Amino acid sequence: MTDPIKFWGIVPAAGVGKRMQANRPKQYLGLAGKTVIEQTLSRLLQANVFEAIVVAVSEQDPYWPDLAISQHANIITAPGGKERADSVLSALKTIRDKASDSDWVLVHDAARPCITTTDIQYLIDSLVNDDVGGILALSSPDTLKRVQGNCITETLDRSHIWRALTPQMFRYGMLKIALEETEGNPSITDEASALELKGLQPKIVEGRPDNIKITRPEDLPLAQFYMEQQ
Ligand code: C5P
Repeated sequence: MTDPIKFWGIVPAAGVGKRMQANRPKQYLGLAGKTVIEQTLSRLLQANVFEAIVVAVSEQDPYWPDLAISQHANIITAPGGKERADSVLSALKTIRDKASDSDWVLVHDAARPCITTTDIQYLIDSLVNDDVGGILALSSPDTLKRVQGNCITETLDRSHIWRALTPQMFRYGMLKIALEETEGNPSITDEASALELKGLQPKIVEGRPDNIKITRPEDLPLAQFYMEQQ
């Protein structure tokens, strides 16, 4: 008998978040009574779909071991890497003895604390029978321009442009190979781009607009507002 397909959560959390201009990495800033990463992980645990959630943190990170959630039975800590893709690959390698190539992994930014169970379940339901997998994405409400310097050279056709969010859902084996083959390539800024480079075509699944990534100081009160509304 073959093992049932499992779902793994992967949370890259080894970034420093320079654009926040804060005294600590953005995942450790306060949000609604906890840190950003605790809010994100609580949401992922609440979804109740993951075999375990692997969190990739910097080896010099003094904050993670102090959080009670780092000892949670369903959370595994992995060493982070130089770039986001390196952190994700390191997390995948950490579960190599537990995960099968056909298991699904959902990679979710530590800095997206407003993720909902509805979106996670919708992504899974939409892609579970897909050959490649895909990502939550959003269309742009604004007209989009191609620019050189500060001059507009072109207006883009919005119907073909989507913003990539997370989670991004791919098969364990396929994602690991894609990230290994593209290691060190600076154009790999999300998991989908690693698969695209192999000639595959990940799907988009329309996500909720409140699944924002904490990037700038003003994003924290906005995230708190969304969390209260949800
Ligand atoms: O900086 P940015 O917001 O694009 O980072 C997205 C996610 O990737 C964050 O959760 C961040 O902690 C993570 N990351 C990582 N390892 C790096 C750089 C970023 O895990 N070397």
